[in-house]
Amino acid sequence: MKVRKAVIPAAGLGTRFLPATKALAKEMLPIVDKPTIQFIVEEAKASGIEDILIIEGKGKRSIEDHFDSAPELEQNLQQKGKTKLLNLVNQTTAAGLNIYYIRQPYPNGLGDAIRYAKSFIADEPFVVMLGDDLMSDEVPLTKQLINEYEKTHASILAVKKVPHEEVSAYGVIDPQSEVDTGLYNVNKFVEKPAVEDAPSDLAIIGRYLLTPEIFDVLAKQKPGKGGEVQLTDAIDTLNQTQRVFAHEFKGQRYDVGNKFGYVRTNVEYGLEHPEIKDELRAYILATADRLRKEDAAKKPAKK
Ligand code: G1P
Repeated sequence: MKVRKAVIPAAGLGTRFLPATKALAKEMLPIVDKPTIQFIVEEAKASGIEDILIIEGKGKRSIEDHFDSAPELEQNLQQKGKTKLLNLVNQTTAAGLNIYYIRQPYPNGLGDAIRYAKSFIADEPFVVMLGDDLMSDEVPLTKQLINEYEKTHASILAVKKVPHEEVSAYGVIDPQSEVDTGLYNVNKFVEKPAVEDAPSDLAIIGRYLLTPEIFDVLAKQKPGKGGEVQLTDAIDTLNQTQRVFAHEFKGQRYDVGNKFGYVRTNVEYGLEHPEIKDELRAYILATADRLRKEDAAKKPAKK
């Protein structure tokens, strides 16, 4: 069965970005000039996804407005002949995609949020795309998962090696064997293990392709780590009745879910952005020079 549907959870409170996220959806924070959630929607589209369900929390209306038309703005840009800007605005209406919305009434964890996608998904395989991870590769990561699914017809999720001391921030896999290059059979999926207990350094990054049987598991899933219903726990249970593979992503991953990662991603994307790349590059080089001089001035003079 063709993979046509994607679920994007966007119900988190965004506490890591307060006060910016007091009234603004975290998913609307821009990387240079584009909201992070637009990158996710573009990856879905480039992977052949047709229908998207965004699972929202409170105060997320700006997401719906972003993917809607904006007649006043469009008219204004048209009258002023600002064709380039008009094109940018028109791209956000996600032409060729249907976007649906539902609310998760309480933030009870990722596994709970996915439960709300049950009737949207019905009995099809689908992808889950988390907004904190932006991925860059020749073939979009979601498409890579779909390609694997077409061979195996099994659930599969994306993993990437992370520094050992960071594993406790992720779901981690206990790989059993590498059945094909970068494709793993998995013994266990563990949500946010203590560093010393982590079965590997292969962390689950925010892309999953799941069979609809996950909903039967989620319906019975008890709260896990942090008192929240964890998708990782449900996937671990699913893996006991039908195989769930892990696919190692070799491309570039940008974690925009924390302050440093967010700023770093802005710099990296800024260095590729046609309008600002030259100016930004010159600024970074000059700043590095200044910082080196400041550091040198702080060091005690050699005897
Ligand atoms: C979630 C998942 C975790 C996964 C991570 C990837 O955690 O629960 O298994 O590794 O996303 O970004 P969160 O970052 O929402 O705490």
